[in-house]
Amino acid sequence: MRKNIVAGNWKMNKTLQEGIELAKDLQTALSGKKVKCDVIVCTPFIHLASVNAVIDGQTVKLGAENCADKASGAYTGEVSAAMVASTGAKYVILGHSERRAYYGETGAILKEKVKLALENQLTPIFCIGEVLAERESGKQNEVVKKQIEESLFDLSAEDFGKVVLAYEPVWAIGTGKTASSAQAQEMHAFIRQTLKAQYGAAVADNTSILYGGSCNAANAKELFANPDVDGGLIGGAALKTDTFLPIIEAF
Ligand code: PGA
Repeated sequence: MRKNIVAGNWKMNKTLQEGIELAKDLQTALSGKKVKCDVIVCTPFIHLASVNAVIDGQTVKLGAENCADKASGAYTGEVSAAMVASTGAKYVILGHSERRAYYGETGAILKEKVKLALENQLTPIFCIGEVLAERESGKQNEVVKKQIEESLFDLSAEDFGKVVLAYEPVWAIGTGKTASSAQAQEMHAFIRQTLKAQYGAAVADNTSILYGGSCNAANAKELFANPDVDGGLIGGAALKTDTFLPIIEAF
């Protein structure tokens, strides 16, 4: 069965010291609690090794926010999937809309990143989602399907089975405007249908599909109650244990 997951995406926030404190705080808050989902924190690269040292890897799991599209070599400033894995991280967010919009990451580049992540035993948390104009013109399904097809559908069923998806409507990210519970369920069901057509029912049923975009303590319960919403990718509300914990406890 697919897993329920709540993953925090710290983005470009927190100094190293602040990040260590936040991770420690979350680990302490969750220790001994019965939690009904996997909890992941995805941190900036420089935080990974230090955060890994203060979490147990079970109660709180670790991920990066990106990795390079090349394995190694003369790519100044880049961080490879192997380097990410060597810190103890098990996950990597790929294809976040901020990477696509501000850093020119195309479907073809992301396809390389996904391959390298999988080769290094990292679970990609692969983000997809339409911008407002696409939603307003009714193109959201087409856009999301294309993002999945161009970066993921060359994977074998076995490899695809290792991927987590995150539907993040771009108009809902950091805006305080969440997709309605019905909009989220409708898209997640469409995504699962798309996976079923390509890989069959077993793979589609086993894929965790997270929702992201202004998810918070007030709306998480309703969003996660949908049959095809398997958790959340959380930005702003993941930056404090006080706001992250209630989302985890929404399951
Ligand atoms: P947000 O970000 O929760 O701050 O809207 C979510 C994300 O971008 O992953």
